[in-house]
Amino acid sequence: MKHLLKMSDLSPAELHHILDVAEELKAEQKAGTTPALLKGRSVALMFSKNSTRTRTSFEVGVYQLGGLGNYMNAATELQSGRGEPLKDTARVLGRYYDCVVWRTYRQCDLEEFAELAGVPVINGLTDYAHPCQVLADLMTIRERRGTLEGQKLCFIGDGCSMANSLIVGGLLAGMRVTCVCPEGYRPAADVLMFAHKYGEKFHLLTDPAEGVKDADVVVTAAWNTAPGTPESERRLRDFAGFQVTSRLMEGAKPDAMLLHCLPAHRGEEISTAVFEEHADEIFDEAENRLHVQKAVLAILLAGL
Ligand code: CP
Repeated sequence: MKHLLKMSDLSPAELHHILDVAEELKAEQKAGTTPALLKGRSVALMFSKNSTRTRTSFEVGVYQLGGLGNYMNAATELQSGRGEPLKDTARVLGRYYDCVVWRTYRQCDLEEFAELAGVPVINGLTDYAHPCQVLADLMTIRERRGTLEGQKLCFIGDGCSMANSLIVGGLLAGMRVTCVCPEGYRPAADVLMFAHKYGEKFHLLTDPAEGVKDADVVVTAAWNTAPGTPESERRLRDFAGFQVTSRLMEGAKPDAMLLHCLPAHRGEEISTAVFEEHADEIFDEAENRLHVQKAVLAILLAGL
């Protein structure tokens, strides 16, 4: 593993190894015995967009492992926000830091950055992929279910970064995956090509009630990300009927889990009642961002 740019960078063995290391690091953190695996190492935490969980969990995670994590707002603080070419930022940061985490828009920018930086690069979210989040989701499911193999995961929402990464990650982990999106919000074409190789283990649907049937895990994510805009008005219309409610959850297995990567828009992609019913799972999922990202850093930088 050289970088973590998208889920398809991982083999099934690498994915399970990340989850194993994350589980170990979580136990060590609870016991107060976290090893200083990043002693003397520094990680650039470069964000071109807002973040609560990704930023803080990386900051705390690097600190717990004994390293230095430097947060930088790429839009308002770095020269990249005033037009310095990406290629130059990559080649400079790669000379100072041992690793760069970047949250940005275009996956192609992240991939180019990784080619030039000369150090491991981790995707902190692009429009195409959110691998750190999906690793935390898989860790949470495995913790609570004991296995990922054969579990049915149903994603309901926009076929963007979360859907793309859950489809690939879930299938690599041995799960059965159903993705439910309105027409016009399908996952990326290359992700669908990947998924179709898994035959009956993958389904793309437009009816949430059909998608959740017998699901072990239901996952949703925000789809109205620019409230107050004409785009938002369109999305509110297009996603009518896609809210995860207690009624919809009745179609899943009686003990089905519900995950949400947060932030949640109650009354849009999820009802307040169902969010609170599953809050323990959702906040375990948020906590696991910390452990799984520490595992990724430990594997990339300390050769675990
Ligand atoms: N889920 C997630 O990535 O949260 P943030 O946007 O707060 O980082």
